[in-house]
Amino acid sequence: MKKVGVAILGLGVVGGGTYKILKEHRELYQKSYKIDLTVEAVLERNRERAVSLGVEPEKIAANIQEICSNPDVDIVVEVMGGVEPAKSFVLDCLHAGKSVVTSNKELFCKYNHELEVAAKKNHCGLFYEASCVGGVPVIRALLDNLQGNKILSMMGIINGTTNYILTKMAAEGAAYEEVLKEAQKLGYAEANPSADVEGYDATYKLSILSSLAFHTKIPYTKIYREGITNIAVADIEYGKKFGYVLKLLAIGKNGDNGIEVRVHPSFIKSTHPLASVNDSYNAVYITGDCVEDVMLYGRGAGALPTGSAIVGDIIYCATHTNYQYSTFKNTEGPAPGTKFIDNFESAYYIRLNATDKPGVLAKVSSVFAKCKISVAQMSQQRDPACEDGTVPLIFITHVTHENNVNRAVKLINESDEIAKVAAVIRVVS
Ligand code: HSE
Repeated sequence: MKKVGVAILGLGVVGGGTYKILKEHRELYQKSYKIDLTVEAVLERNRERAVSLGVEPEKIAANIQEICSNPDVDIVVEVMGGVEPAKSFVLDCLHAGKSVVTSNKELFCKYNHELEVAAKKNHCGLFYEASCVGGVPVIRALLDNLQGNKILSMMGIINGTTNYILTKMAAEGAAYEEVLKEAQKLGYAEANPSADVEGYDATYKLSILSSLAFHTKIPYTKIYREGITNIAVADIEYGKKFGYVLKLLAIGKNGDNGIEVRVHPSFIKSTHPLASVNDSYNAVYITGDCVEDVMLYGRGAGALPTGSAIVGDIIYCATHTNYQYSTFKNTEGPAPGTKFIDNFESAYYIRLNATDKPGVLAKVSSVFAKCKISVAQMSQQRDPACEDGTVPLIFITHVTHENNVNRAVKLINESDEIAKVAAVIRVVS
């Protein structure tokens, strides 16, 4: 039987889950794949935690060099998170001829070029299924199953923390701050939640997924990003009246005019399959030119779901020698000639707080007309009225360009007489 030794860098939630799966399923893998997978070393500062998980003390390495020079280690699992020291450790392992499996989206998104060059040079595997959407096998689907398609678009709920918060706000009518505190108490949101709630986490994941889907490097810096921190529960409620559900969507489109990539709160029809993805669940909705629509759904985080993705990569690595790398020419930046669309098209939900008097609507309409915005639906809400005596005027527009809406918002806000723009949310049509 082929013996394959694994080292785990970091025994936090995901590292601990991976360790447990490898221990408990050892016989299953022996029987099913004819490989004997054993954990030969761990790198974990908290020795007590390692021992409490069942790691033999002699397998706790003092430093990364001990792992790099350990001849029993074939595959190193990096689940530390963050860029440093994870990046240096991963490079050290690749240069020592160890294949690497990582769940680190920030590291992989920012440095996949450098890591892949090192992996190829040293004939090592580099796997990252767990970096995006936890246990949901979206990377393997793009690499191995959907590769015959031109991927036209992908739309995903790829951050569980924000999905949990938005689901709770919608269900309980509770304000963002209140739900965030509750999510932190329950351990869903980090003490410093900015990577999740400001959309960075989703941006890193979209960079990785869209690069694979569209066969060109999509740097995360090219992705338009807006988080959920300014979402008012009133807008979620008003949206419901129009038949919409609010989600933080990661959207990638590959059209004739170029590529557009964006992460922002979006209203989707309550009948759309993504609308029923609730709590901390994730899903990615992919449209290919042959397959049409495919939706992958599941747990985007957690010890065992993310551990499942990591162990899947370990088994793949242990049973293949001809490793797969990116689906694109892995350069530091996008392939020459890649065009990005910033002035993308969308429908919009626009809420104005307006004085309830004659002529206001006419003035707003004239700004919209000037900015080439056509209104599809409009409603004046009285319940609840705003504290300052204004009333919420809500417009759903037909599809228009982002720049048209930005211009209209500026013109409305600059005019004393009309109203103030209280919210702008893109609507997936
Ligand atoms: N922080 C992530 C989320 C989980 O909330 O989805 C790990 O990617």
